[in-house]
Amino acid sequence: MSVVTSLDLPGSRSGPGDWAVETHGLTKRFGENVAVDDVELLVPRGCAFGYLGPNGAGKTTLIRVLLGLTRADAGTMLLLGQQVPRHRDKALARVGAIVDEPRFHGHLTGRQNLQILAAAREHEARDRIEPALERVGIAHRADDKVAKYSMGMRQRLGVAACLLGDPQLLILDEPMNGLDPAGMQDMREMILALVAEGRTVVLSSHLLDEVERTCDAVAIVDRGRVIRQGPISDLLAGTALGLEVECSEPDRAMTLVGAAAIAAADGAAMTAGPTGLHLTLPAGTGRDVVAEVNRLLVEGGISVYRLQIVHASLESWFLQVTTRLGESR
Ligand SMILES: Nc1ncnc2c1ncn2[C@@H]1O[C@H](COP(=O)(O)OP(=O)(O)O)[C@@H](O)[C@H]1O
Ligand SMILES: [Mg+2]
Repeated sequence: MSVVTSLDLPGSRSGPGDWAVETHGLTKRFGENVAVDDVELLVPRGCAFGYLGPNGAGKTTLIRVLLGLTRADAGTMLLLGQQVPRHRDKALARVGAIVDEPRFHGHLTGRQNLQILAAAREHEARDRIEPALERVGIAHRADDKVAKYSMGMRQRLGVAACLLGDPQLLILDEPMNGLDPAGMQDMREMILALVAEGRTVVLSSHLLDEVERTCDAVAIVDRGRVIRQGPISDLLAGTALGLEVECSEPDRAMTLVGAAAIAAADGAAMTAGPTGLHLTLPAGTGRDVVAEVNRLLVEGGISVYRLQIVHASLESWFLQVTTRLGESR
């Protein structure tokens, strides 16, 4: 098994088999509605990858297409280097997926449910039941009926069921849905542990914060189209810079800064509040601009108590991107 643990930039490698998931021009329509629109997805192996977008963006549909649960109208795809649907069985043998809520027999125990699922798989699957229960942290509840399980425990059992096939790739549709904060934290740690074992985890989510905290790389999807993808750190490198200034006389401070060239830069914005200013500066703004703001204020007789650079989170970046899109349509 060859596992690439470092995160590769899309485009930095080529050749079949390099990506856990690779799609070209993937399209799925429901009548006039294009749920998956010309998607070019490159998921590096050995990372946690977020497919991030609002409800209705086409996340579940993309996953269903990848798993062969619904047919694409156009495009090609490879899972673990295997063409699907042509080599679907071979590809899916090493893929574990949870789409929709995992369904189990409530009157049976967690372990019994896994035994039934293992019986339908290759011989080795039986030996994976106990490690899987341990791995997802429900071994101590394995003999309780699933009907008594919380949502978080059912999700864990769902992941345990995936692990029976020793998957190289796990595809989880909205794994944080219905979980309380502690359950989300457990799920996040479980995903990171699976990645640390060399597996690839693709998860869909509308929760920006969760993706930012869990994933190494992300594709942002809106109305079926992937609008950006890459390592989260790269995407954030193109974001605007926030500058918080705590100072005396905020209104006069705003006039002073407003008269300078800084405020005229494309994408710059400024608001005054009771304790100071908040500036938004275009992506790529250097630190010297921060010093310049400070100089302008001090020379103007304003007392500056605090200057702080605030880096945009993925969430505010996501909002910037979607707002721009909204304006251009
Ligand atoms: N079986 C279906 N028949 C018709 N339209 C569908 C079907 N499944 C999904 N859609 C539509 O496709 C779009 C994407 O849905 P979906 O993939 O469920 O989005 P997400 O998972 O991101 O919330 C939505 O507009 C949805 O109404
Ligand atoms: Mg969905």
